[in-house]
Amino acid sequence: MKYRALVYNIGQLLTLKSPKNAPRTGRELSELGIIEGAAILIEGERIIRIGAEKDVIKGIRRNTISKEFNAKAMMVSPGFVDPHTHPVFFGTREEEFCMRLAGKKYMEIAAAGGGIRNSSRRFRNASKDDITKQTRLVLKRLLKHGITTIEAKSGYGLSFESEIRALEIIRDLDGKQPVDMVPTFLGAHEFPDEYRENREEYIRIIIEEMLPYVAKNKLAEYCDIFCEVGVFDIEQSRRILKAAQEHGLKIRMHADEIEPIGGGELAGELKAATADHLVAISDEGIRKMAENGVMPVLLPATTFSLNSSKYAPARKMIDAGLAVCVSTDCNPGSSYTESASFVISLACLQLKMSPEEAFTAYTINPAFSLNRQNRIGSIEEGKLADLIIWETPNYREIPYHVAVNLVKNVIKRGKKVV
Ligand code: NIG
Ligand code: FE
Repeated sequence: MKYRALVYNIGQLLTLKSPKNAPRTGRELSELGIIEGAAILIEGERIIRIGAEKDVIKGIRRNTISKEFNAKAMMVSPGFVDPHTHPVFFGTREEEFCMRLAGKKYMEIAAAGGGIRNSSRRFRNASKDDITKQTRLVLKRLLKHGITTIEAKSGYGLSFESEIRALEIIRDLDGKQPVDMVPTFLGAHEFPDEYRENREEYIRIIIEEMLPYVAKNKLAEYCDIFCEVGVFDIEQSRRILKAAQEHGLKIRMHADEIEPIGGGELAGELKAATADHLVAISDEGIRKMAENGVMPVLLPATTFSLNSSKYAPARKMIDAGLAVCVSTDCNPGSSYTESASFVISLACLQLKMSPEEAFTAYTINPAFSLNRQNRIGSIEEGKLADLIIWETPNYREIPYHVAVNLVKNVIKRGKKVV
């Protein structure tokens, strides 16, 4: 008999279903497709029926159901899709957190040899097994917060061998634990210690050695870059990202986080899938992104963790018609958090988004940004049964009940995993 599960007694079901099969913009960001008194029927990994409970269970013999989940009149939503994470790292950087508390700036610490290079040294000195163990822990925490799919970047190796190792860890863990991963190659996260004085050579290694190998072995779907003053400038970013496109990789960018150097504009020019951070984005950058369908991924937990008061201009981007996404940016430096609910609180309190917009920006829109819109991001017939059963009847409690994880159960591909 086929595995069949029924989620019933759902007080408030956020389906995120819409007749429009495109990233949500403007008013659509507020349409959560709510059904009260709902149920979901699952067969194997997929949702086969949703709707009012009486319609869903009509004609179904209870003895054909392998598993029943009573939502106890609480809220059910799609699993979160986190479109920007750096989960493959070794060790942590609390000493830098304390340096920032004492007044040092993130980029000062980086320029002095800390930051990403600090993590890179730890990464290179660790065994694949030890890194894998630590990554598993991060994934487990993300899952506990309701995140069922992530975009996962390399970027702490910064050499051919160790960047490949990071991508292999992602590949090997995908399917071996519940969180689905979409791999992104981020060899251009920083210039490593050994190429500080010969940056061209590191760029050559990325373009001529890493990218061809990554593409040939299908180790990544996306290529990302840290485009910022002191790291990869616009011209270097353009070269690397164009090379990535020639190898069939799609583009995401760390863009205009600290200085408005034209990262948003470049993302538009290259028709990147996303441009991320965007705290310092210019009006022209927003215009270019809108013109070219680039989705912004906003990372308010990073701004918060860097103790800055300047958040990305989310409202301006929404007004310009951009299909916003939000994400943890989970990493050991600038945003060490796995808490999706905290990101939603910050999206509301600091990015000035509504709870409805925040849920859309963390489910269906990121699914589009990862080209997974037909499988995840909403609760619809045919999609994967990736669901969160909450311990609140009302989605508005998520941003409001700050820094508390109200996830009760997580169902991933039809099975209870939390
Ligand atoms: O998205 N800005 C660059 N990359 C990461 C930080 C990585 C780190 O500090 O380890 C980010 O914030
Ligand atoms: Fe990042």
